[in-house]
Amino acid sequence: MFRSARLVPAAALLALALALTGTACDGGVHGTPGGSGVRDPYFPKAGNGGYDVTHYALTLDYAPGTHHLTGKAVITARATKDLSAFDLDLAGLDVGSVTVEGEAARWNRAGQELTVRPHDDLGKGETFSTTVRYSGTPRTLTDPDGSEEGWLRTADGALGLGEPVGSMAWFPGDHHPSDKATYDITVTVPKGLQAVSNGELTSQNTRGGHTTYAWHTAQPMASYLATVAIGHYDITRATGPHGLPVLTAVDPAQAEASAKVLAKIPEIIAWEEYNFGPYPFSSTGAIVDRPDDAGYALETQNRPVFPGAPDTTTLVHELAHQWYGDSVTPASWRDMWLNEGFATYAEWLYREDHGGKSAQQTFTDLYEADDEAVWAFPPAKPSGAAHISDSPVYQRGAMVLQKIRQKVGDDTFYDIVQGWAAAHRHGTAGTADFTAYVEKKAPDKDFAAIWRDWLYGDGRPDHP
Ligand code: TRP
Ligand code: ZN
Repeated sequence: MFRSARLVPAAALLALALALTGTACDGGVHGTPGGSGVRDPYFPKAGNGGYDVTHYALTLDYAPGTHHLTGKAVITARATKDLSAFDLDLAGLDVGSVTVEGEAARWNRAGQELTVRPHDDLGKGETFSTTVRYSGTPRTLTDPDGSEEGWLRTADGALGLGEPVGSMAWFPGDHHPSDKATYDITVTVPKGLQAVSNGELTSQNTRGGHTTYAWHTAQPMASYLATVAIGHYDITRATGPHGLPVLTAVDPAQAEASAKVLAKIPEIIAWEEYNFGPYPFSSTGAIVDRPDDAGYALETQNRPVFPGAPDTTTLVHELAHQWYGDSVTPASWRDMWLNEGFATYAEWLYREDHGGKSAQQTFTDLYEADDEAVWAFPPAKPSGAAHISDSPVYQRGAMVLQKIRQKVGDDTFYDIVQGWAAAHRHGTAGTADFTAYVEKKAPDKDFAAIWRDWLYGDGRPDHP
């Protein structure tokens, strides 16, 4: 909403250009199509070329009884080149209309690409607003690794989960982690149900048998981290460190099993701030659904989703992702180890700091266990889209961090971990950015063998 102010100057500029050139059709801009992907090595059709989204305003209405979703997406974006057309990613659903800058646009669909041809070409640097109206029964998508994402039906509602490409099942967008944006997600559901999403709840209104919940995400978010959870939830509000709002939404069937572990959120956040630096967002919490509602936990921004009451380790892992993954987001799906290696290492550190074995011991045990799966491929080069969440990405990713700690010692190691989160706060970064950052922080050390053997090398390195 707050971004729309920018549309006025953009529209005014276009009008001025029209007046000056006397060109009736397109203000003198002659663009080319933006492109159907951003060349992700694992998901080549994910994301789109030619623009950057700054804000999504999603207005959704969902009827769990019929599984029908009605949506309006108002997408504010900036053209990064002159555009005659651009793509959005959308899987399933029926598009009713598309407008760009308030004018009807032509559009067509092929696979996950919704190609939009605006009435007037868009000039490089121009901020423009696209409105897509759509409806239908949102799909559950199956990942290359066989897990389910997109729109999942639950016992009493639905759950939107987006890693890596599931968000295209419930809203059109630039669905690649490299394009982050702020969000307003407004969801209307039958009265008696709740709709929980990212960010903070800004309003809640019941009228005519329906309740509308409006959620605002003020810090940039990758679209795979967007979520909406519809159903019956016990909502609890608490306060974390320095007044941080904590909101948990728990399926009543999971309430008793979850209460004790969720009460640890403030102290886990405090411990993570001590280790990783300031918490990057304006609220935190958790969403707990039933165990069979999703096969996995996911680090959805502000409040991760858990299938059933989490254990402390999983809670530590998903909350650590708020720094590593959600705030510092991978530039491509090949950089997934920057998410999972850090979140796994957070588990090791938490254990070390809470009377359990040291991270070094966890590393040694893992090396000695010699489990083939851990050495199946190097963490920075997963062997295909079906393997981006396999154990080398998690375990061997964490081992890379332990190798860095061995090399630089604790003081510099914590400087690196916190500095990395600060340097790319609310941004995106890849593996080459990370290795360069580590080298800059410890200029007297040689990391070449660590990168060669632990990050990019095949098989189990000869020495732990
Ligand atoms: N990222 C999740 C975690 O915290 C795991 C996960 C869920 C995942 N769905 C996925 C990983 C799809 C890759 C792809 O560990
Ligand atoms: Zn994870």
